This record gives sequence, C-alpha cells and structure tokens, in this order.
Amino acid sequence: MEEQRFPNGFLWGTATAAFQIEGATRADGRGESIWDRFCAAPGAIVTGETGDPACDSYYRYMDDIALMKGMNLNAYRFSIAWPRVIPDGSGKVSAAGLDYYDRLVDGLLAEGIRPFATLYHWDLPQALQDRGGWANRATIDDFVRYSDAMAARLGDRVKDWATHNEPWCISILSHEIGEHAPGLHNRKLALQVAHNVLVSHGKAVPVIRQQCADGQVGIVLNFTPSYPATDSEADQVLARQEHARFNLWFLDPIAGRGYPEDAWQGYGKDVPYVEVGDMETIAAPLDYLGVNYYTRSVVHDPTGGQGSCTLNKRSEVHLSDRDWETYPQALYDLLVGIHFGYPFKDIYLTENGASYHDVLLPDGKIPDAMRIDYLHKHLSVLQRTIAAGVPVRGYFCWTLMDNFEWTFGTSSRFGLAYTDFVTQKRTLKESGKWFGKVARRNSLEGWM
Ligand code: FCB
Repeated sequence: MEEQRFPNGFLWGTATAAFQIEGATRADGRGESIWDRFCAAPGAIVTGETGDPACDSYYRYMDDIALMKGMNLNAYRFSIAWPRVIPDGSGKVSAAGLDYYDRLVDGLLAEGIRPFATLYHWDLPQALQDRGGWANRATIDDFVRYSDAMAARLGDRVKDWATHNEPWCISILSHEIGEHAPGLHNRKLALQVAHNVLVSHGKAVPVIRQQCADGQVGIVLNFTPSYPATDSEADQVLARQEHARFNLWFLDPIAGRGYPEDAWQGYGKDVPYVEVGDMETIAAPLDYLGVNYYTRSVVHDPTGGQGSCTLNKRSEVHLSDRDWETYPQALYDLLVGIHFGYPFKDIYLTENGASYHDVLLPDGKIPDAMRIDYLHKHLSVLQRTIAAGVPVRGYFCWTLMDNFEWTFGTSSRFGLAYTDFVTQKRTLKESGKWFGKVARRNSLEGWM
C-alpha cells in the first residue's frame, strides 16, 4: 500500500454523535429527546433497541479517549446533547449536563486531542417537538440560546464549533421521507424545517463567536453527489436536479447564493416561507465548511423526463453492508467543486467511513480488510485533492467505535473499534490499527 502523507498540522480524528454513544438517557435530569420518543415506537428501529445504553459513553468517556490516544489521534468530533444541557429545550440549564461536557473536554485536552463540538446532531428536546419542533420559528431562538450557553461554558477550551450536522437529514430524511425522528411525511413541512434550521445556524454563528473570539465556527453538510447513469439528456437533467435538491439546497444559501433557482421552481407550492433578512442571516461568514461524504448516487430516467430512479444497488460495483457504493472519485470532484466554486477558507472532512458485518474472532482480532480498503482509497483521493490546492485541514473517520446507528440500532457497524454491546468492551479492529499507524506516521513527519 502506498504511503499516506498529509501536510504538517493535518488533523486526524474520529467523529461520533451524542445520541449514538452516550446512553444514560435518564441520568442526571436529562430531558427526553425526539430520538428517545422515536425509538419507543414499535418497528422504528430494526433491532428494537433504544439509545440506551448505546456505548455507555456518558460513563465510559475515558475509555473512548484512551482508544483515541491508542490510535495517535489529535482531534475528536463529538456532539452535545441539547436535552442533557437544557432538558426541556428552552428552560433551565442543567449544571450536571454542562459538567459532563466539561469533563469530556478536559479529558480530551489532557491527552492532546483537539475537541470539535457539534451543537446539533439530531436529538431535539421532545418538549420543543411538542410545540412544532424545527417547523416552529421559536425553536430558532431556543437553539441560539442553547448555543450561547455551550460556547460560554466551553469556549475557553473548545475552539472548533459546528452548529448543525447534516441539515438534509434533519429536514428531508426526518420530515419528508420519515425515516428518522420525528418520522413525518410532509414535504412542505420538511422544507420549512430545512429553512428554519439554516436560519438558526446563521443566528448562532455570531453568538458563538462572541463567546469564543479565537474560535472557528462552521457547519457540517452531507453530500451525495449525483451522477447520470447514461449520457442521455434525461439522465443528465435528473442528476442536476438531484444535485440541486440534495446538495445545493443547503450549500448555496450558507454561501450567500440563496436557494438554487431551478430547485425552487421545481418545488412549487412546497417552498418554505422566508422572512425578510433570513437569507442574509443564513449567509453568516464561516471559518470552515465540514463535509460528510460516504457515497454517490447514480440516477436514471428510463422514461425520458416522466419518472426517475436511483440505481444504488448495481451488482457491478463494490457496496458496503448498507448498499452504499464505494466511489472515492466523487469525493475529489465534490471537494474541488466546493473549493473552486465557493468562498470557504478551510474544509474538514468531518465524516467518512463504511459499515461491514464485522466479526470478533476467537483470537481477539477483527479483520476488516474491506474497511481498510475503503479508508485507504478515500485518503488517497484526499491527498490528490490537497495536492490540487483544496485546503482540507483534517479527516474525521466515522466512527470511533460501533455505536447506535439510528434506525439500524447496533446492527450496522461503522467503528474503527468493535463494541461488544453486552460487556461494552471496545477492541480495535484491524482498520483501527491501520488508521492509527497512518496518523502516527503523519504526525511524526509531515510532507509539506
Ligand atoms: C451520517 C450521520 C452519522 C452516522 C453516519 C453513518 O449521516 O451523520 O450520525 O449515522 O451517517
């Protein structure tokens, strides 16, 4: 395997999300979140599990930090559970909730691991959902207040902030497709949620900066680039449309370009209500863009304009156990497109990884050559991207250890470490050992 060399100062980390690892959903006054409610519905989670205990990280965060240290990592992207900090979303701030994140951050810093905090990774306080959730503009102000409280408490030590993780998932996946909490099926509502989430981002950015003047503030978007299955006009039109709806609908507004015109027209009466000043708010200048990339979509319209279909289960390509195609070239195309087309100063790859059916062998090893191959290919592409002049400053693998993978429960394993969900023992997979070596070689000797 060729050497994986990155610039000096490049950050090597993993990413997690509070609901996926913390467990302890009722401890120390934590409030109910929309994911607690969603998991309780029969059939919502394929394994019938809930987010408790997940990886029990509320109590075992020092084990997590030791795992990172063992892989020579120098950054960690985690999220803060809003209902742990403000149990009903808008009322009293919980001292115990704040204390937990204090301990986590201090533990990371003691090991030389730079904390990247994400304020919202999908666990809205249920009390806010009860009055309309993100579709209600009052939630915007609650989010800003929560962001302010977190930045005030941690801003002396946490310098890297993201407002939201994946607004597409927060809105479309959860409110139109209905696959994630709160499980609704209403496109108009979903687009309003998307808009309100973006406004909340734009309003929170200056508030976080005020608390943390020497910090970096950004947002994390998920990208699924679309490629036409054939070079027919219909397929190309469809690919452009998917790209506009999935990616540009979120990227363009935060970069000050407003919503993409063609997608806006296409949504017809479902477009969101936009208040005067919203688009300027959403375009708050950012220090960086976080990019989550896993796979692409390949689209085909056999009817020549009447219908569409997404071809993600093609037999000729390599698929993960989630049926996601391994296609690293799309990462290059995406990052080059973002850098040369948009004004972001820095870019972080904030999530990238793959789920496979990992097995813990009697000798204690978890051989996952497929994951090593996936990571290796994407890191190679990332090197090429950096060489092409794109300022990618760090790579966060999804994820540190197998965890509660939303509707898949613990059945979908993305970790660099294997989690035994009975004993909570974490064991590095072969990919984790490999990733640790790449990180160590690069921190010893940069190439630029
Ligand atoms: C992303 C989410 C993350 C995880 C990975 C597999 O969309 O941000 O929480 O579920 O997918």
